[in-house]
Amino acid sequence: MVCLGNICRSPLAEGLMRSKLNFTKFTVDSAGTSGGHKGEASDKRSIEIAMQHDLDISDQRSRKLTQEDLEEFDYIYVMDSKNLEDVQRMAVDDTQRSKIKKILDEAFPGENLDVPDPYYGGKQGFASVYKMLDQATDIIAKKLQS
Ligand code: 4NP
Repeated sequence: MVCLGNICRSPLAEGLMRSKLNFTKFTVDSAGTSGGHKGEASDKRSIEIAMQHDLDISDQRSRKLTQEDLEEFDYIYVMDSKNLEDVQRMAVDDTQRSKIKKILDEAFPGENLDVPDPYYGGKQGFASVYKMLDQATDIIAKKLQS
């Protein structure tokens, strides 16, 4: 699960995805394209909206997406078109390129939707991001486990 800072959107996506998959069979992680918040806990508004849904993401720490991630993980879900561009630029071959998808393409195929960056907005933005990611991760979890 990849966003820009790895403190708002992708930590929620990671927490949601992990809560829906069998932990013995899947490794779920998140990272940011920028590395600008490296080592930091998630934004308190993300932690709060997750807590309101009984999801604890408070132990996550921001890290920067690496070249190795593109090799190691089978699926790379990005939050928006800018993330897509940035991560595609890191890919070294078609196998890596084919792993990278916008997360809302799973829930709303053909609509090319972004999970909007909630960082500079208010709490409502985080609630709306949570809802979108809850829907998308439901669909992804069902696909991966079917
Ligand atoms: P995220 O949100 O990419 O969902 O983690 C952001 C976090 C920080 C910044 C931008 C977006 N920032 O500009 O510092």
